[in-house]
Amino acid sequence: MKIFIDTANVEEIKKANEWGVIDGVTTNPSLVAKEGREFKELVREIVNIVDGHISVEAISTNAEGMVKEAVALSEWSQNIVVKIPMIPEGLRAVKILNAKSVKTNVTLVFSVNQALLAAKAGATYVSPFIGRLDDIGHEGMQIVRDMVEIFNTYNFKTEVIVASIRHPLHVIEAAKAGAHVATVPFKVIEKMFKHPLTDIGLERFLEDWEKIPK
Ligand code: G3P
Repeated sequence: MKIFIDTANVEEIKKANEWGVIDGVTTNPSLVAKEGREFKELVREIVNIVDGHISVEAISTNAEGMVKEAVALSEWSQNIVVKIPMIPEGLRAVKILNAKSVKTNVTLVFSVNQALLAAKAGATYVSPFIGRLDDIGHEGMQIVRDMVEIFNTYNFKTEVIVASIRHPLHVIEAAKAGAHVATVPFKVIEKMFKHPLTDIGLERFLEDWEKIPK
């Protein structure tokens, strides 16, 4: 399973990239707004840090506008993937963009039917937001399991990005479900590293090393 980082913060992206654990980046307008930086300059910087797919979101709500935006964004780098909202106009845009070889990530996906339609339209990725489903009392991960099963059964090329991840257990569940990608916030990646026995073990090894005559 590929791990993307779900942030627009350059420091977080740099750190995770140096750790060697990330394969790409996903952003959304809310994450970009938090950075208070000029959009194009920020995206260009991210593209230069990570050698992998970088999702940036189109904000038009009609197909013509989305296609125009997506074509322009994709010219910034061959690694740009354009996030398109899961609405009928969005899928109309995905079909046109697929024919133009522009990579898409259908976002705000909350059901298996939505994912099936996005795959039919030729989306490169679909992003089920599992944390937001958990928040309203639905088991988010179940739609991921179902999507992966359906995509495998029919050999859809569309990859499932598990998004809206809240904690390390979500990452394990995404991997067990056979998701192609989990997009993980920086704080959750940090937690994935942690185990108290690792810290205690390292401390003890270093103490014992001091006792060895050199
Ligand atoms: O990038 C999309 C998604 O990961 C957003 O997550 O935490 O705002 O539900 P969240």
